[in-house]
Amino acid sequence: MAVGKPIDAVATPEWAALQAHFDELQKEGISLKDWFGADPERVPSMTFDVEDLRFDLSKNLVTSKTLDLLANLGEAVGVRERFSAMLAGEHINTTEDRAVLHTALRRPASEAGTLMVDGQDAVADVHETLGRIYDFAEKVRSGEWKGVTGKAIKTVVNIGIGGSDLGPAMAYQALEAYADAGISARFISNIDPNDLAMKVAGLDPETTMFIVVSKTFTTLETITNAREARTWLLDKLAETGAIDGSEVSCKDAVSQHFVAVSTNLKLVEEFGIDPANAFGFWNWVGGRYSVDSAVGTILAVVLGPSNFQDFLAGMNAMDRYFANTPLRQNAIALMGLMNVWYVDFFKSYSHAVLPYNQYLSRFPAYLQQLTMESNGKSVRWDGTPVTCHTGEVFWGEPGTNGQHAFYQLLHQGTSMIPADFIAFVNTPNPTRDGDQDVQELFLGNFLAQTKALAFGKTADEVRAEGTPEQIVPARVFEGNRPTTSIFGVALTPFSLGELIAIYEHITFVEGAVWGIDSYDQWGVELGKQLAKQITPALSESDAALAEQDASTQSLIGFYRENRVW
Ligand code: F6P
Repeated sequence: MAVGKPIDAVATPEWAALQAHFDELQKEGISLKDWFGADPERVPSMTFDVEDLRFDLSKNLVTSKTLDLLANLGEAVGVRERFSAMLAGEHINTTEDRAVLHTALRRPASEAGTLMVDGQDAVADVHETLGRIYDFAEKVRSGEWKGVTGKAIKTVVNIGIGGSDLGPAMAYQALEAYADAGISARFISNIDPNDLAMKVAGLDPETTMFIVVSKTFTTLETITNAREARTWLLDKLAETGAIDGSEVSCKDAVSQHFVAVSTNLKLVEEFGIDPANAFGFWNWVGGRYSVDSAVGTILAVVLGPSNFQDFLAGMNAMDRYFANTPLRQNAIALMGLMNVWYVDFFKSYSHAVLPYNQYLSRFPAYLQQLTMESNGKSVRWDGTPVTCHTGEVFWGEPGTNGQHAFYQLLHQGTSMIPADFIAFVNTPNPTRDGDQDVQELFLGNFLAQTKALAFGKTADEVRAEGTPEQIVPARVFEGNRPTTSIFGVALTPFSLGELIAIYEHITFVEGAVWGIDSYDQWGVELGKQLAKQITPALSESDAALAEQDASTQSLIGFYRENRVW
């Protein structure tokens, strides 16, 4: 059921069938080597070519029967119905009583009029805002937009946190090769004063623009950093005599150097940013699903509107594929369902994402918010407790760096950690080291790792290399460590958009099976509330200190004794 009472997946006959199948596999023994040997159809039947991406699911601990049973489970709990309800604007975010429509952000303008949300034409609204963002981006890129002293903008600084930072920061890093207007980007997120200090270091205030991004425009970190950045800008401009420090000159400087992105345009105005320089979005876009809304304004500026359009088109291509492909043939749905298989049957609570592409080094961090803020829940969307384990830990680092760090545990540790490998055939930086193509050296490592994880190395194979008997056990790789490979043609705005949408939908599938509202995030609230109560105890208030527990008091005592400024 899409909303109302979730179907308890664990109580369905489809779950019981999966459990029986799992027990059977355990009894027979799982061997990818044997499965590959016995079934020449395994690889073709588990390979899915979608747009410019190849999904290879064959190195997972599944047989074709497992995939049948997982697809049956998805059907039984209503994964497809819930996605249709989501696309139609039903309020599937029940605890906030909101529609969930990030998919509307990338629908083409030709679909205007097909999606009414609370009386508004959502697709038309999206394109009206995109038009304003593209105009603004072109003005900044062409130098028509000038800073207060008449100079063109050279650096754009995004101030935001969580979904208002991770998506744009990750995408900027991923697509830096496409930044073609001589404008660079920086990102300030942490309330740690070091972050702002590090990011404004060396900047020329006359050529710097800040984009303050906050869905709510109440987030402590962002509003504090925005105020600090405004102070930095005005002080620096006054120091050099670029402005005279009068109220009018300060107002002019802010209006030329600050823009905002928010759903709360009233608070933007109260902050002092001209509403003409603000881009809105809607409460049906969750923070961690917002990189393709006005939250991506910095990307439109630095990469240009046409690349931003390609990025949206990549997302839309995956939305259409996911929506229109039956679960059993749907690579994205199967990835989500296999995650449930690993979490709830193998009790594997960790999931690695390993991009073989240095430009994607922030992708795992981006996914951590997407997946864990979405599915790290213990109650279902009707408030009842979940009935199985939910929400695995996502983490990762680019290869080959990770190979020299934590892969030891992936290969030989006692926990089984499913991993997604993401790689691209082409690089924008082709290089040769003598006769060796460096990209081929790199991709050889990607392929070697997935092969080693799947097939391992037996004691006999180790012995045959002449290894002394006492160290044979240490050199055995048991294999059967599951991986999925996503192999693309090239990392482009389009394929980055595809990757983001793929993981959004994987997250959706897992949440739908578990009966979770993947679109709220109440778990972040308590810490925010307590920080407000505790902060006064750090310096001034003994009354506030007295209210704290013994451990917090002791830590504050250490702080008070050692503070030196
Ligand atoms: O505290 C968590 C969170 O609400 C995220 O969900 C969100 O992406 C982030 O804070 C930033 O929120 P905002 O965009 O409203 O500043």
